[in-house]
Parts: sequence; structure tokens; C-alpha cells
Amino acid sequence: MIIKGEISVPGDKSISHRSLMISALSQGRSRISNLSKGKDLISTYNCLEACGIGLKNYDGDIVIDGGKFVNPDLSLDCGNSGTTVRLLMGLLAGQGISATFRGDQSLSKRPMSRIIKPLELMGAKIEHNDGRLPIKITSKKLKGIQYSSTISSAQIKSSILLAGLGSMGTTSYTEPYKSRDHTERMLKILGANISTKGLLTTLNPLAKPLKNLQIKIPGDPSSAAFFAGAAALIPGSRIRINNILNNPTRNAFFLVLKEMGVGVNYLNKDIINGEYVADLEVYFRKLVSVKIKKQNIPNIIDEVPMLAILATQADGLTVIEGAEELRYKECDRIHAICSNLKKMNANILELDDGFIIEGPTKLGGARVNTFGDHRIAMAFSVAELISKESVFLDDQDCISISFPNFFQKLKKVTK
Ligand code: S3P
Repeated sequence: MIIKGEISVPGDKSISHRSLMISALSQGRSRISNLSKGKDLISTYNCLEACGIGLKNYDGDIVIDGGKFVNPDLSLDCGNSGTTVRLLMGLLAGQGISATFRGDQSLSKRPMSRIIKPLELMGAKIEHNDGRLPIKITSKKLKGIQYSSTISSAQIKSSILLAGLGSMGTTSYTEPYKSRDHTERMLKILGANISTKGLLTTLNPLAKPLKNLQIKIPGDPSSAAFFAGAAALIPGSRIRINNILNNPTRNAFFLVLKEMGVGVNYLNKDIINGEYVADLEVYFRKLVSVKIKKQNIPNIIDEVPMLAILATQADGLTVIEGAEELRYKECDRIHAICSNLKKMNANILELDDGFIIEGPTKLGGARVNTFGDHRIAMAFSVAELISKESVFLDDQDCISISFPNFFQKLKKVTK
């Protein structure tokens, strides 16, 4: 069996969330093509609608009439989506909205103090369940802050920047390592007064409404990673993934693939709506191990589950350290990766902030506990392609959080 052919993947999830939220802020009509069809986006869509924003499906696109937020009558259900709750908390607090946020079991366990603390410093009134959901924000006019975060997180950065758009005075944000910068790029293109210098981003409140957004969202590199990973694992494979996001804060997985010896070519490079895009060709070559530098972790954070599967087939020691943030994702991904790979006979050592894998080892079958996490489920579905026996996922449905037709696409390229 080999992986062969040409595919596209769903629209980038991070840009999809931002497209909906930032269109909601701009006055007038925006139009978004190729929005991610994942359940996380349905959460953002429904929350914005509950806040008075007009959203419609039109010919496969989303048309948004933004500009006027109202207090929602009911609590906002953010489902499984950390990006929805964290970015919306900032955006709505900045617009003087009162709202209560809730989420599913997984989201209700995830830390929210990282957002609560800076928003409180901006003057927000927030009630919470010991730093977790449910969270209630009561309308207050915010003031800008100069905030230096100890965590490298685009969700924290974006939340503060979106709050800053509706606050009094300048907001600045410094991060320890560069995290994804889609919020900054999109705000800039739509006319916000925002500038970035290295790890510092500075923003002034909106003096005039943002321009309307017209965007065709490029494919999600974090979804593409599973197909690129499958091709990298199976001798004779070659895959082309068309029109994917090639933003320098999101492409580390493909650079690491190259470092591991895999064939990676970028074709048709372009810049659209302020974001780099390209077609990507990936082909099998013998894998060697890598050590990921701490400063690159934010750039590869969502791809670590797939990287772990690759590491089991790479010659030597693959080391991932400085990735403690993985413990606070849709599940504790360090535990999920290590416990499931151990069941499959991989040689893996769990660390507090990552793991070490010695390869190559022939993987056996297992009953995989996905912990309801879409990326764990997809990574282990790819692992099954190279394992001696079957891999049973305890929950396949969670994949629809980001990639509803994942299995159809995988079948299409499995020859
Ligand atoms: C995201 C940022 C990352 C990432 C998540 C999406 C975003 O989270 O893991 O899947 O869209 O801003 P953190 O900012 O918490 O690292």
C-alpha cells in the first residue's frame, strides 16, 4: 500500500475563526470562502449569531453583516473550542458586551486564567469557576495595557489584541517566542492601527471601522500534516496537497519533515490576503530523528501528535522538550501520545514537558484512547497504516472537530 495522489484540505481553522470574528467587528458585509467545516467553527458561528451578528450561508460561502453586537440572551456554548472562547472573551469584553461562556467537558477543564488575568488588568469584570468555565463577563469600558506574557500563545495574544480594539489607549503585547500571527495580519489588511516588531505587537483602538473582509481561506497546514505524515511513512509514497497556508509561524512541521530526510517541495508560492500560500509535494525518503528547538514549539504545537508517529519510524532519538503547553490542549496530549504509543510497542519516554522516542520500531496494534481529541484520533489513524495489526479508536467522531471528511480523503489517496 502507498499514499499517492492530489488533495486539498479544509480551510485553515485559525484563520476561519478570525475571519468570522473580525468580520463581525467590521461595519457592513464581508464574504468568506472555504471556511473550515469543523465543529469548532459552528461554535464560533453560533456564538456570534447569539450576539446579534447576521451570518448566512450563500452559495457555499459565509456572508456576514457585522458591526452591531448585543448582549446574548443565553450563555454562549463554545463546545470543544479553545479558540472560540478565548478570542471571543477578548473581542466581546472590548465591545462592552455582557456574556456567559460555557463549553463541553474537555473545554471546561482547560485553563482560562491566562485570558482572565490580562482582561481584568484592562478593567474587565469577570466571574469564573476557579480560572475555568463557566465564565461571566459584565459590561465595562476597558483600557489598553502593556502586557508581557510568559506563555507563547496566539490565543492569549489575539484575545488581548481584539479587546484592545475597543479599549481606551494603546495596547501592547510581548510574547516569549513567536506564536501564529493571523490576527495581526488580518487586522492590518483591514486598516487597523497595528504594528509588530519582533516579539512586540502594538495596537491602537479603532479610530474608524475596519474594512470588510473578502477572503478565500487557504488549506489548513495542521490538517495537511496528517497526509504529509502518511506519505513520509510509507515507502514509494508521493502526495500533492494544493493551496495550503505557508505562513512562517505555521510551517515548522514541513521544515522538520525535510530535516528528517523526507522529500518536501513547495510549488506555486503566492501571497493572498496577507498570508503566504503554496502547493506542497511530499514524498517518502528514509526517516532520521530530530531534536526540536524550544523556540519552534509554538510553530509545531498542533502537529506534535503526527510528529510522534513519524519519530517511531526514524533512525535515532527524537527529542521534544519545552512543550508543556501540550498538557493543556483538547486533552493532555503528552499523556495521550505516550500512553497510546507504549501500547503499540514504541520506545518512548515521557517527560514533564515532552517526550523522547527511539526509533525505528515496528508498531503493533492497539485499542487507542483518543481522549475525545481530534488530532490524537487522526495521528493514530495514520499510525494504523504502518502497524502490524489493527488500531481501534475508542472515538472516531471527535475528528469532525476540525476535519469532517478526513477518512474519505485518506481513502482517496491510499492505493
Ligand atoms: C490557536 C492557537 C494554538 C493552537 C490552537 C489554535 C489559534 O493554541 O494550539 O489549535 O487559533 O490561535 P495556543 O495559542 O493556546 O497555543
